[in-house]
Amino acid sequence: MTPHFLSIHFLLPFILLFTTITTTTLAQTAPAPAPGPPPPTNITKILEKASQFTTLLRLFSITKVGDQINTQLNNSKSGMTVFAPTDNAFSALSAGTLNSLSDQQKDELIQFHVLPTFISTTQFQTLSNPLRTQAGDSTFYNFPLNVTTSGNTVNLTTGVVNATVANTIYTDGSLAVYEVDKVLLPMNLFGPQPPAAAPAPEPVKKKKKNGDDDTPADSVNSTSSAVDLRVGLHGFIWGLIAAFIAMLCL
Ligand SMILES: *[C@@H]1O[C@H](CO)[C@@H](O)[C@H](O)[C@H]1NC(C)=O
Ligand SMILES: *[C@@H]1O[C@H](CO)[C@@H](O)[C@H](O)[C@H]1NC(C)=O
Ligand SMILES: *[C@@H]1O[C@H](CO)[C@@H](O)[C@H](O)[C@H]1NC(C)=O
Ligand SMILES: *[C@@H]1O[C@H](CO)[C@@H](O)[C@H](O)[C@H]1NC(C)=O
Ligand SMILES: *[C@@H]1O[C@H](CO)[C@@H](O)[C@H](O)[C@H]1NC(C)=O
Ligand SMILES: *[C@@H]1O[C@H](CO)[C@@H](O)[C@H](O)[C@H]1NC(C)=O
Repeated sequence: MTPHFLSIHFLLPFILLFTTITTTTLAQTAPAPAPGPPPPTNITKILEKASQFTTLLRLFSITKVGDQINTQLNNSKSGMTVFAPTDNAFSALSAGTLNSLSDQQKDELIQFHVLPTFISTTQFQTLSNPLRTQAGDSTFYNFPLNVTTSGNTVNLTTGVVNATVANTIYTDGSLAVYEVDKVLLPMNLFGPQPPAAAPAPEPVKKKKKNGDDDTPADSVNSTSSAVDLRVGLHGFIWGLIAAFIAMLCL
């Protein structure tokens, strides 16, 4: 029995223990990097899974709003909210409603169903009307959307239709997708025409006022300046002639 032999026997359990600890530590730290960044949220996938939104999916695709939502979700911290009308809601529209819209109007219609912030069901109770949608600001004839709540019921009104939030399809703290029972028809595409008729007569009145004067102020001034120029030219020419005569006399 040499001391060398003894020491190995003595150390072996410690070496094994150390190895075990190292392995355990590695095993414990390993799961942390494993999940990595979560896969980007895909609104198309979410709606496909819910399987009663084929018309909305088609419109998301035509207008590229689906891609826009995915990009915006990846790039912004404020999240998004989507109101998803069911296929039944689209079929309830009067015939030709969608076909009557231009590409830009289709885009506006779909953007009107998207809010640029994440709104949980409880947050609906604290919102102030009108809501800002992706379609525009919230002024009266520029895509306002109002929310009213009572208990768990959340209603939306556009001024043209009243819709009810029927169901939460998806929520993750960043994206909320709510099923709505009606297509949200915005006022400025489907409502009565805005009082655009009022500003129209104004220029006519102005023209009449101007017409009362013999000539508009602008033309008076341009004429008078033209006269001034002619007088100036005459003076200059007469001056030249006078100078010429004076030269001849000398
Ligand atoms: C989203 O999902 C759809 C259908 O599942 C797929 O076609 C599309 O490529 C996905 N988009 C992204 C950005 O992953
Ligand atoms: C999400 O954003 C990151 C950087 O902000 C970018 O590298 C990545 O390509 C984006 N992913 C998608 C699917 O847009
Ligand atoms: C929501 O709409 C439903 C159906 O139109 C109606 O019965 C209910 O009273 C409304 N609730 C609120 C809070 O506006
Ligand atoms: C929406 O709410 C605003 C502010 O309360 C109100 O002035 C407007 O009339 C409402 N519009 C509709 C369509 O309910
Ligand atoms: C929407 O609801 C409001 C009050 O709840 C009502 O005055 C209005 O007539 C309704 N509009 C439609 C289009 O049903
Ligand atoms: C036109 O000329 C008049 C008199 O010279 C002057 O009072 C007036 O300000 C001028 N208007 C414009 C538009 O230049």
